[in-house]
Amino acid sequence: MKAIRFDRYGSPDVLELREVDVPAVGDDELLVRVHAASVNPLDWHFMRGTPYLVRLLAGVSRPKASARKLGADMAGAVAAVGKNVTDFQPGDEVFGGLEERGTLAEYITIRQSAAVVTKPAGLTFEQAAGVSVAACTALQALRDKGRIQPGHKVLVNGASGGVGTFAVQIAKALGGEVTGVCSTRNVATVARIGADSVIDYTRDDFTQTERHYDLLLDIAGNRTLSETRRVLRPKGTLVAVGGPNKGNWIGPLSRTLTMTVLAPAVSQRMASFLAHQTKADLTVVRELIEAGKVEPVIDKTYPLARAADALRYLEEGHAMGKVIVTI
Ligand SMILES: NC(=O)c1ccc[n+]([C@@H]2O[C@H](COP(=O)([O-])OP(=O)(O)OC[C@H]3O[C@@H](n4cnc5c(N)ncnc54)[C@H](OP(=O)(O)O)[C@@H]3O)[C@@H](O)[C@H]2O)c1
Repeated sequence: MKAIRFDRYGSPDVLELREVDVPAVGDDELLVRVHAASVNPLDWHFMRGTPYLVRLLAGVSRPKASARKLGADMAGAVAAVGKNVTDFQPGDEVFGGLEERGTLAEYITIRQSAAVVTKPAGLTFEQAAGVSVAACTALQALRDKGRIQPGHKVLVNGASGGVGTFAVQIAKALGGEVTGVCSTRNVATVARIGADSVIDYTRDDFTQTERHYDLLLDIAGNRTLSETRRVLRPKGTLVAVGGPNKGNWIGPLSRTLTMTVLAPAVSQRMASFLAHQTKADLTVVRELIEAGKVEPVIDKTYPLARAADALRYLEEGHAMGKVIVTI
């Protein structure tokens, strides 16, 4: 089968389209013919080996054999099932993702208990491919870390990207009154997917208004903690989804450390977290999609042979919704 592989850390130039063996399906696994996958910032962190902290997982000077793959979510059709699999059968159309990456490939194996569920009939493979990482992140940020309640005033900084477009829609579905922050070209999209108001950050600074929020999802991670806390209500919650990408050592984790130090001294709650794709949360997201409350937003689509270009585009940091790779 064809798959994207890399042997050293670096820019998207390190990525190669190779012929590799189709993985053997285990007793509790599905073999999925992947029709589309998406790229996420975590892919370029693992591709570049930055922040260096990721090398503790992936290999210090070179990626370990198991870490030479990219792609964490996908949509496709079940090609074969292991002997203990009862919930799926060949031909089922599914979507979901892998914690250990590798979906930029024609076939993957995934445990039936992992984050894989049947694809909503109304979604194409391209639409479904970019859901799992971004939507599970948005859901966990709002519901678990943000403890969103109906009527909460929610600000989403970075409302137009992969996570942001799901966050705006899920926050609305959970009863929030949502303000999205994005650049001029994305204002209409963020309004169309349901934001009650949109702040164009090229014209207005959301930290300098008199509006205060119960919940602030900081996905862009480009403002200081004191700037974002300024617009939070005294008992409001700040959830840091993305952090500043400056610094090669710990990168976005610098914000987590500052939040931990600051937390006892402030009235507002502050949380950062690493999202996980789970079957339960993917099922919640699928139900929101089937109810017409959430719709994937797709920016660009690239063929597998141009996966490096998909990563280059994503790394620019201005994707509008998801960047998809068709396989
Ligand atoms: N904690 C976790 O588990 C977790 C999980 C997934 C992702 N993340 C992190 O979350 C971040 C976003 O991920 P993503 O998949 O949504 O990335 P993405 O698709 O690349 O989105 C980036 C978005 O950031 C926006 N942006 C750039 N500069 C901005 C600014 N100054 N103010 C407001 N928005 C700005 C862009 O909007 P414009 O084009 O309008 O500028 C773009 O839509 C990344 O740092 C990623 O590592 C964390």
